[in-house]
Amino acid sequence: MVRRLIKLMQILLEYLQDSWRFTYYNSHSPFQPRSKRIGYHTVIETHTVEKGLVLPKPRPFFGLEKISSILKMQQIKGIERAPFPRRMLLGALAAYLEWHKKYPNPQPEIVEKIEKFVREENLSGVVASGGVRNTCPPINNLAAQEFLMSRFSSRVFDAEPLPTNLVEQIVLIAQQAPSQCNRQSSKVYHFFSKEIIMSLLDLQGGSKGFSDNVPTLFLITSDITAWGGAQQRHQLYVDGGLFSMQLMLAMHAFGVLNCPLNLAVSNSTESAIKRIANIPASERVIMMVAAGLPSRSGNEKGILSVAASPRRSLEEVLFTSRN
Ligand SMILES: Cc1cc2nc3c(=O)[nH]c(=O)nc-3n(C[C@H](O)[C@H](O)[C@H](O)COP(=O)(O)O)c2cc1C
Repeated sequence: MVRRLIKLMQILLEYLQDSWRFTYYNSHSPFQPRSKRIGYHTVIETHTVEKGLVLPKPRPFFGLEKISSILKMQQIKGIERAPFPRRMLLGALAAYLEWHKKYPNPQPEIVEKIEKFVREENLSGVVASGGVRNTCPPINNLAAQEFLMSRFSSRVFDAEPLPTNLVEQIVLIAQQAPSQCNRQSSKVYHFFSKEIIMSLLDLQGGSKGFSDNVPTLFLITSDITAWGGAQQRHQLYVDGGLFSMQLMLAMHAFGVLNCPLNLAVSNSTESAIKRIANIPASERVIMMVAAGLPSRSGNEKGILSVAASPRRSLEEVLFTSRN
């Protein structure tokens, strides 16, 4: 009974620390740098402009008030405008003007402000990157279905770390993961030093029996400052999880073996991990992924032994509404 009570108290204590961390680092907190908060805010608000342009029937001159407030944000004294939000905003506003060319202008004052902003950003050499892009609907692709069905976790790897250029290609694909309002709060830390990997896996605790055989380790985090307000307190784990999944699928696509590793750790262990991995206090850890190429000295037929990990029946997972 006492042990159970202690466990329950521990939950409360961890939640208290979680709450403090979120309160201190979230985007409404005055303790976070203004430029960073405005950067995320710009991306989130700009994305609503992008989305508005691709609705089935965009309402002409939608969101003028919102655009006006985004422009005001850019003029706040003393903020540093980061390249990504800046490029995204320019692209979205240029697309907005282009789309509205054929419509009579109901609020010339605001539209002129947008035109002036776009002109000046173009003149100062900002390369636009947001807006609207044309693409093709996905096709029914049997090879892709087989590929997705074939993924698995491996706990055996070749000793050589993954080459950096391969890691970069993998992360470029991981970045295609969706994120809320395109804020892209996820980050991935990449390690290949045996010593650091061992000390990180020691704290992780779920890789006993194969931790000394991990040539490359990824640690995925999410930036708390990308999120704001009570309702968003858990959302960093949603985006971080989606990013991690796409990272693992990207590895699978490049023939890289990998194993997700939980970071179900206390706040104090998380802090120790962040110290070793040099991760800012404003980020929360999501998970680790061990990775490496298939062992060259392994089975000649190229057969790998992996845990079967059977799946539950579809009826246990899929519930289709009758209406
Ligand atoms: C978030 C997460 C954490 C995991 N943590 C560990 C871990 O610490 N150690 C481990 O050996 N496997 C870990 N796994 C791997 C699971 O055991 C594995 O994904 C599951 O059994 C399904 O098998 P499959 O990945 O081969 O399809 C983890 C998986 C996920 C999604």
